[in-house]
Amino acid sequence: MSQITPHGGKLISRIPEERERESLIDEAEKLPRISLNVREISDIEMIANGVFSPLEGFLTKKQYEEVVRNRHLPSGEVWTIPITLSIAREEAATLQRADRAALIDSAQGNILGSLDVEDVFTYDKGLEAEKIFRTADEQHPGVKNLYSQGDLLAGGKITLLSRPAHKEFSEFRLDPLKTREIFSSKGWRRIVGFQTRNPVHRAHEYIIKNSLEIADGLFLNPLVGETKEGDITAGVRMDCYTALLRDYFPKYRVVLGVYGAAMRYAGPMEAVLHAIARKNFGCTHFIVGRDHAGVGNYYGTYDAQRIFDEFGSGEIGITPLFFDNSFYCRRCDSMATMKTCPHEEKERFSLSGTKVRELLKEGKALPPEFTRPEVGEILMGWARTDGGNQEKQAQEY
Ligand code: ADX
Repeated sequence: MSQITPHGGKLISRIPEERERESLIDEAEKLPRISLNVREISDIEMIANGVFSPLEGFLTKKQYEEVVRNRHLPSGEVWTIPITLSIAREEAATLQRADRAALIDSAQGNILGSLDVEDVFTYDKGLEAEKIFRTADEQHPGVKNLYSQGDLLAGGKITLLSRPAHKEFSEFRLDPLKTREIFSSKGWRRIVGFQTRNPVHRAHEYIIKNSLEIADGLFLNPLVGETKEGDITAGVRMDCYTALLRDYFPKYRVVLGVYGAAMRYAGPMEAVLHAIARKNFGCTHFIVGRDHAGVGNYYGTYDAQRIFDEFGSGEIGITPLFFDNSFYCRRCDSMATMKTCPHEEKERFSLSGTKVRELLKEGKALPPEFTRPEVGEILMGWARTDGGNQEKQAQEY
């Protein structure tokens, strides 16, 4: 059965055969070293396992400039988020025209991979902030990360020599080759992908189920890479997803697998990356609801939907499914959107983040119109056990 073509035509693999690995690690021991932060560690894995196809490495100068200015790679494919390896000037000095470098996990100190150093270059952080995040405000978590990283970028192909050590979700870490195999073994042709970084509520469930009505299967693909302070930890969220799937979805219609990349909070630009990554996993459709990948008030409610119109037909190559803001309507006695509900605002029920926070803090159950009781229980348990930290943790969602 034919499947959706990966972005750029083929699924990239930058993971060597097992028999080559040992000798490549020995070689890498002798190379100058570049330390990777948490985001870069997740990026190297996403490049190596093909989630970021057609990228084969961290962006080179030419690729970086094309992506920032024109939202495309020089080879022609749409690409909206620079996947970069930043280095400090001192680190660059140790490279001394080396053509290869070892990539090190900054926390563990072990070798994760190697980089064929194509170039080391300066870049304009302000320009990247404006073009990608549409703001230079350092309060924006993505902009803040950008400004705090090294002043130079190292570009070139990578080879992944050791998988980053993951303590959690090992059974849900499915590479695109695996998800494609699973989808095919289930005979699914239309597969809808869902990105999320929040606990799953009725609004999420509504848009997922509406999408599933026109698809054969759902790929629930929560992001578990680095998120900002204030987002609910991936472990708690995974408990919420599994509870929802267990009690409210037919088992054979859903595959749960994690998306290991870091969150950028780049709204529309990141929505396009999210769609491309899910195409690489083998999804044919991708859900984009309100303020996808947004944070604070930096993006318009539907900017992440509009951006898909700014590319030529077929350029992104996966069908986006757009949803309006969803809420519970008491008169309709169901979830709805402005498209399907004729009633007044006072009949509609949705909770602000502040209200959710207050209820959790007071140990009160979240209303069933907002969240399934099984999910609410998990969140209440988390609020109870997370000491005095919950206020900070729950700030955003
Ligand atoms: S995101 O950063 O991953 O986009 P979140 O997990 O909240 O955050 O959202 C996951 C998906 O659900 C996104 O496509 C988002 O637009 C959509 N979504 C979240 N809440 C709603 C809502 N109330 N109505 C419609 N879509 C929503």
